[in-house]
Amino acid sequence: MDNAILITGFNGEIGRQTLLALSKKETLIIALDINNPHIKYDNVIYIKDSILNKDVMKSIFNDYNIIEVYHFAALLSQSANSNPKSAYEVNEEGSKLIIQLATNHGIKHKSFVRIFFPSSIAVYGPKKLKDAKEYDIIKPQTIYGCNKLVIEQFGTQKYEESIQLGFGIDFRCLRFPGIISPYTIPSGGTTDFAPQMLHAAYNNKKYTCKVDPSTLLPFLSIKSTIDAILQIMTIPHINSKLRAFNVEELSLSPKEIVEELQKEFPKFIVDYNIDSRFQSIADTWPENLNCEEAKKEWNFVNNHSKNVMFEQYLIPEIKKNYGKH
Ligand code: SER
Repeated sequence: MDNAILITGFNGEIGRQTLLALSKKETLIIALDINNPHIKYDNVIYIKDSILNKDVMKSIFNDYNIIEVYHFAALLSQSANSNPKSAYEVNEEGSKLIIQLATNHGIKHKSFVRIFFPSSIAVYGPKKLKDAKEYDIIKPQTIYGCNKLVIEQFGTQKYEESIQLGFGIDFRCLRFPGIISPYTIPSGGTTDFAPQMLHAAYNNKKYTCKVDPSTLLPFLSIKSTIDAILQIMTIPHINSKLRAFNVEELSLSPKEIVEELQKEFPKFIVDYNIDSRFQSIADTWPENLNCEEAKKEWNFVNNHSKNVMFEQYLIPEIKKNYGKH
């Protein structure tokens, strides 16, 4: 039986760049998504299906010795609010199925299956916190935030049972802020305005932002996101009692993002049409995250520099990326 890494939701903003990073390893990859791949790598077996297809999920764990799982398939916050039933099925039931199958697999093979789960700043609330620490008031105000918290807790419980037993899963999470990628334009999230503005600025398009210009939210570039995923999945052991760590690069408002983009794209125009479905969520998410725990655990670096994020990475990279097409 071949060793393999399972990745779900590989077409999404984080999934796509994680698959690219994983494809450089020697290990076989099983990549599942409801849509077809945009790029094909040699050592990847692609499966077009849903994580809710129990038979397919079970057969993956039966046919391969799954040693790691990267589980990205999910509905983001706005999509979850519009489709609460699907959000429950995909974000909770689907995630629990994968965690349970991985636990059974670890027990059967007398090993630990390492699982990465992307949690979110959506677990915080109801107050908009400054310098939110992992243990700060956690009362999510959205269906999506509740789904993420349930899975953080379910995975942590399965991890603790696995430790008692000596086999099962090694569950690891990052609480992601808004992510900005020069490669993909996300949809269905509350923080999507940031990457959408970047792509609109490059493409000479006017942008209408649904969040007030002064609303602060934490952000991370996709490059730092992938680095953090690979780092937390590589450290042999997590010393902290936490299984879910904050990571952010910068706290930014829409106004500040526009100012950064206008330095490079002076004709970029943004207007504001505040949508309460977006604003009411952004107002319960922290304005910035305390990342001391991640720094202690694997020397997570957040340099808090707009220059590093925009001028040195996002702007040159979006030019390179579109130049390819
Ligand atoms: N970026 C996500 C969203 O806006 C939060 O995890 O839904």
